[in-house]
Amino acid sequence: MSNIVGYIGKRNALPIVIEALKRLEYRGCDSAGCAIIHDNKLQIYKKPGKIVDLERSLPEPNLCSGSVAIAHTRWATHGEPSEVNAHPQIDCYGKIAIVHNGIIENYIPLKKQLIELGHQFISDTDTEVIAHLIEQYRTSEPTIQEAIRVALSKVEGTYGLAILCEDEPDQIFAIRKGSPLIVGIGDNEHFIANDVSAIVIHTKRVFYLQDDELCILKGDYFEITNGFREKVKPQVSTVDWDISAIEKGPYKHFMLKEIFEQPISVDNAFRGRIDESSGNARLGGLKLTPQDISKIEQIHLVGCGTSYHAALIGKYMIEDFARIPVQVEFASEYRYRNPIIQDNTLIFVISQSGETADSLAALREAQSKGAKVYGITNVVGSSIARESNGGSYIHAGTEIGVASTKAFTSQITILFLLSILLGRQRNLSSIQGLEYIRELQRIPAKIESILQQSEYIREIAETIKDSHNAMYLGRGINYPVALEGALKLKEISYIHAEGYAAAEMKHGPIALIDKEMPVIAIATNDPLYDKIHNNLEEVYSRKARLITITNEGNTELENISERVIYLPSTLQNLQPLLTVIPLQLLAYYVADLKGLNVDQPRNLAKSVTVE
Ligand code: M6R
Repeated sequence: MSNIVGYIGKRNALPIVIEALKRLEYRGCDSAGCAIIHDNKLQIYKKPGKIVDLERSLPEPNLCSGSVAIAHTRWATHGEPSEVNAHPQIDCYGKIAIVHNGIIENYIPLKKQLIELGHQFISDTDTEVIAHLIEQYRTSEPTIQEAIRVALSKVEGTYGLAILCEDEPDQIFAIRKGSPLIVGIGDNEHFIANDVSAIVIHTKRVFYLQDDELCILKGDYFEITNGFREKVKPQVSTVDWDISAIEKGPYKHFMLKEIFEQPISVDNAFRGRIDESSGNARLGGLKLTPQDISKIEQIHLVGCGTSYHAALIGKYMIEDFARIPVQVEFASEYRYRNPIIQDNTLIFVISQSGETADSLAALREAQSKGAKVYGITNVVGSSIARESNGGSYIHAGTEIGVASTKAFTSQITILFLLSILLGRQRNLSSIQGLEYIRELQRIPAKIESILQQSEYIREIAETIKDSHNAMYLGRGINYPVALEGALKLKEISYIHAEGYAAAEMKHGPIALIDKEMPVIAIATNDPLYDKIHNNLEEVYSRKARLITITNEGNTELENISERVIYLPSTLQNLQPLLTVIPLQLLAYYVADLKGLNVDQPRNLAKSVTVE
């Protein structure tokens, strides 16, 4: 969503915060702004559009230099993307500047009260109330910290905030509730960001602020108070990060790079987690004993978007191998639905970023009912990783493209290992466990072989790029893959696409089919192959343009398909790791051929940290 960065030290702050913002721009940006203390005066610069638009609008460096600055990219929630709605938001006198990630839910009544007290608002944002509230309490409270404390006690919602005050020109105030905020410790300098990738080029020593902690940052000093009262010692950690992870290298887009990284990222997800001698998986981070595992009666898998699709695939795997009932739910529904959580229910929240607001809220809701919740996340130290009772990192490496690709296959890999772990305690013999593990070990090479067909898939993309609609079909474990294929296409190419369980076609969607409609169907060798073949015949007889994905050696779909993509065979439960690859490539090439901004599609953010 929105991104926050800040710098205080001896160097010229503005180039540092602008550069840091650029490293986060992939997460979504419709306007950008910054505040700097120059000659003891607070100066604000803002622009709608991208960070380069802001950069171009800045005055000569000698007119905006200073060693303290905060900056922000906005992803609009309240108020259209515009200069006035961009952050920083300020008080009536332009002496307090705020950058905010989150949502202030009660801003309407607060704004009304403040207007009655004489405050003048200029934006449509929820954030502006915070600046005016601090201004309001600045007169009655002894210190700026107290004014911030009282102001925030009036606010309901979520926030990661960085605050600059002209009256306190040598400090930045940072505080969070429900939105991530990280402090980087440099050499007589400090950094703030909502994501470590923004600042890792400057320092690898960081700490994560906890909810309700206020951090006062100076160049050579910082102080954290919890609830503004007790001093807190932070847990400083060293980030294990390689800057090349956030460079595109030879690839045109991050999405393409990340698609091509999957042979390695899938391998990273299972490496070290396999015990060949017992045909079992090791997921030590779950901290589950064999006794705990044998007591599990039910599993809930919760996530959003692509992570939700991975959860659907997890259901097929776990129910097949372990015969434990699995319920899959959107985190946004789960959090408000008052879910029934019985004893011996295991809950997994799946999230690449570990910061998705709905997923985090679902985790907290389940924990508040006494449940143990496990996280399957990518970002180390993210809120879900920290707040869960245990979990597994997927080790996919930084994913920058807004369209999730390698995180999806790594999530599936972890869910596959989980299904083996649970299955071995129940149905699966060590021989079966080993057979499945061995097949998992062959998957990276099979992905590699599919990637070699990228040019062919680009040709197919040429043929569908001007379509207005597309339909994706799959059955069994490939049904969620059809959903994922459709999501990939729509989010980056803006072509309307839907995924269906192929047999559902005849209950309505078949009415949509005509000779203009590309239908992308997954029909791999598995027990449902004959069934989906029949479904595709129905589609073909209605003149749809069929693009089929099947296994090498099966040529019979050529009669009814405009194009066929052939994949290596694998175990049924591992098929999604292969069948999704051509769908990712297809979406990528369609969007690229249409000349769209693949890595930063319109209206989307990489990490959705608001409801
Ligand atoms: O970080 P998360 O996995 O929690 O994100 C969930 C969704 O926002 C995310 O998967 C989204 O749907 C992607 N844009 C899909 O490509």
